[in-house]
Amino acid sequence: MAQDQSMKTMRLYDQVERILNELNHLGIDEDSPLSVEDLTPFDQYHYHGTAAVDEAARKLGATGDTQILEIGSGIGGPARHMAHVTGCKVTAVELQPDLSALSEQLTARCGLSGQIDHVCANVLDRPLEGQTFDAIMSFLVFLHIPARAELFDVCRSSLKPGGSMIIEDYIKLKEPDAQQAEDLRVKVQCPYVPDMDTYRQDLERAGFVSVEMEDMSSSWTAFTKERLAAYEARREHNVKVNGEDLTDGLQDFYATTAGLFSAGVIGGVRILARRD
Ligand SMILES: C[S@@+](CC[C@H](N)C(=O)[O-])C[C@H]1O[C@@H](n2cnc3c(N)ncnc32)[C@H](O)[C@@H]1O
Repeated sequence: MAQDQSMKTMRLYDQVERILNELNHLGIDEDSPLSVEDLTPFDQYHYHGTAAVDEAARKLGATGDTQILEIGSGIGGPARHMAHVTGCKVTAVELQPDLSALSEQLTARCGLSGQIDHVCANVLDRPLEGQTFDAIMSFLVFLHIPARAELFDVCRSSLKPGGSMIIEDYIKLKEPDAQQAEDLRVKVQCPYVPDMDTYRQDLERAGFVSVEMEDMSSSWTAFTKERLAAYEARREHNVKVNGEDLTDGLQDFYATTAGLFSAGVIGGVRILARRD
């Protein structure tokens, strides 16, 4: 699939089985059972890790009765944490086959296969047509999907009336220069970033109401800067566990995102919206 191949220019998505190397380094072999907590240092592909998922659980009021659709579930970190702490059920849709397959294995090893369904698909292809959910969650995914009208239509039709959606995503703060635009497009796979007002209008036009937008820009600027510094400080470990090429690739990815935030080109938003 063309889109899947090009996604790998974003090095976060390269060799995702590196999580198994990290577990191996901790003395956990490939077949042994896992706890969700074993994985959370490595399986959250968004900012502020499980704290962001806890906040989503609180804002959505998730309980054991809640059925959540997760859009762009990565290697399954948010779905597992959400299911583990709230008892809810999650249907986790992920575009990239290697990420989805790894998610499924890790979820099974955590004993959570009864609570989480992993579905490998492009959400724009409406893989769950006809099913509706109490809530949607999506962390740092919509930045990859420029077709916002189509995307928000899928979201709306996937929710029960009155259902809520929580999104964490990028917003544009100022126009990127040519190099920054290229970095966004290639290294971050982010060809389109709306400003905050456009984002709100697009959601409202799609039939979402009570749209609350929390500006995460300064928090994410600090997070991405600290993530880069922490990764650089562990270079010896990273090279030993994952090799030099992947270490360099991830370091460049973390430096690119930290640079885009600190230059004030992109910011972040946490959105809570309700289906009318
Ligand atoms: C930055 S990662 C975040 C993963 C996960 N939400 C997390 O926080 O750990 C974004 C994910 O969205 C997925 N994605 C992008 N476009 C998608 C689409 N159209 N349908 C389903 N998943 C998509 C990517 O493959 C990637 O795994």
